[in-house]
Amino acid sequence: MATKKRTTRKTKTAVARKKAAAVKKKVATGKKKAPAKSKKAIVRKKAGTATKKRVAGKKKVAKNVKKKPAAKKKPAKAGKKKATKAAAKKTAGKKKTAKNVKKKPAAKKKATKAATKKPAAKKKATKTAKKKPAAKKKPATTSTRKSSATAKPIIVVTGATGAQGGSLVRALLADPARTFAVRAVTRNAETDSARELARLGAEVVKADLDDLASLKRAFKGAFGAYCVTNYWEHFSPGKETQQAVNLAEAAKAAKLQHVIWSTFEDTRKWVPLEDTRMPTLMGKYKVPHFDAKAEANQVFRDLGVPTTMLLTSFYWDNLIHFGMGPQKGPDNVYAITLPMGDRRLPGIARDDIGRCAFGIFKAGTRYINRTVGIAGEHLTGADMAAALSKALGVPVRYNEVSADDYRGLGFPGADDLGNMFQFKRDFNGYYCGARDVARSRALNASLQSFATWLEKNKARMPL
Ligand SMILES: NC(=O)c1ccc[n+]([C@@H]2O[C@H](COP(=O)([O-])OP(=O)(O)OC[C@H]3O[C@@H](n4cnc5c(N)ncnc54)[C@H](OP(=O)(O)O)[C@@H]3O)[C@@H](O)[C@H]2O)c1
Repeated sequence: MATKKRTTRKTKTAVARKKAAAVKKKVATGKKKAPAKSKKAIVRKKAGTATKKRVAGKKKVAKNVKKKPAAKKKPAKAGKKKATKAAAKKTAGKKKTAKNVKKKPAAKKKATKAATKKPAAKKKATKTAKKKPAAKKKPATTSTRKSSATAKPIIVVTGATGAQGGSLVRALLADPARTFAVRAVTRNAETDSARELARLGAEVVKADLDDLASLKRAFKGAFGAYCVTNYWEHFSPGKETQQAVNLAEAAKAAKLQHVIWSTFEDTRKWVPLEDTRMPTLMGKYKVPHFDAKAEANQVFRDLGVPTTMLLTSFYWDNLIHFGMGPQKGPDNVYAITLPMGDRRLPGIARDDIGRCAFGIFKAGTRYINRTVGIAGEHLTGADMAAALSKALGVPVRYNEVSADDYRGLGFPGADDLGNMFQFKRDFNGYYCGARDVARSRALNASLQSFATWLEKNKARMPL
């Protein structure tokens, strides 16, 4: 029996060898698939789901790997595409900085996700992430418009040590979300007010509105800017217009995405130079500090700077700082003097200008290429006198004078202000309509009324 079994085994082995030899021959001549492949198929079958998953993982990694070189090759183009898209849509344009930044971590998340699925995928994903210059470059591109310290889009604020700019700096820095980083412009960073801005968290930089190169440096890498000029420092409309042109050119050079230009109406559209209702001043202006600013409006537009034209209102703070507060008359009674007749004067708390401007920046592209007028309240001289009487606890009356009388008061700029109040009085419907209180409140929920402002500031009123 044993011999028979051995003989049978030998016979089977011999048959198997013969079969194998035949297969080898066929494989060599290309007539049959290699047995090796059959083995792989068996292995796959045995490995089952695990192998399938591995293969799937490899495919995913391969996919990632393929994507990486694409990102590598076209980081700049991708950025340009986004910018073009944003410019076309305008809306995304203002948000793209933050959007880009958010997208990068998303790209990182994908790599991380792939990595967690498979060790192999992990390695490759990590490798890919390292290889991705685009992922690193994109935030770098964005960061040119953000403060390196805060990684926030930067708003450059001119006039930062003054009323308007200062109020915006404070509004931006008081924002709990710190939506924007602040770059405050001053000619002298060593003053107490400039140091205070730095203490509050602003980046303080030196620049001069008369020096275009310095403005270009100040605007470089920023997202937006608040532009304001101070006519009352030099009383030169030509100089004020040139300063505004410098601001527009610097904004264009820096490719700013949103500029707020604090401007006014060109009063000559309502009162042409030949109109004798009010005198022409300096040869070609009716209200020089209005008209000079308005002359620059078109420059911002022509240069293609994405601009919101901001029409501000009479600061109630003028009653404290500008000598316009209640003064005792010959009758020993306090009075405020205005040539407004019974018409309404749009007014605003200085601090609310900055808060409204912040609201405009926060609204993204909504107010770009639009004019926005702001006011806290529209009040007659009598209304203001009544509110002052109540807040101060002393009688204050409204001393209504003519525009001619006001122009003749003799202080520097009295003729300019006389024409200004006359313009506000004679075109009162337009002027108030252009400074909408409800919209101002929509931009700035804490917009103050005159009474609210007085309550806070009455102690500072020089009586
Ligand atoms: N008073 C009102 O009721 C009223 C209402 C609406 C609009 N406005 C307009 O507001 C403008 C003035 O703004 P404001 O009241 O905010 O001024 P402000 O309080 O008098 O402060 C002037 C600001 O302008 C800056 N500045 C002036 N000349 C500059 C230059 N050459 N380069 C760089 N910065 C310069 C000053 O900065 P540094 O000194 O730190 O360099 C300062 O921050 C005027 O043009 C006025 O027509 C006034």
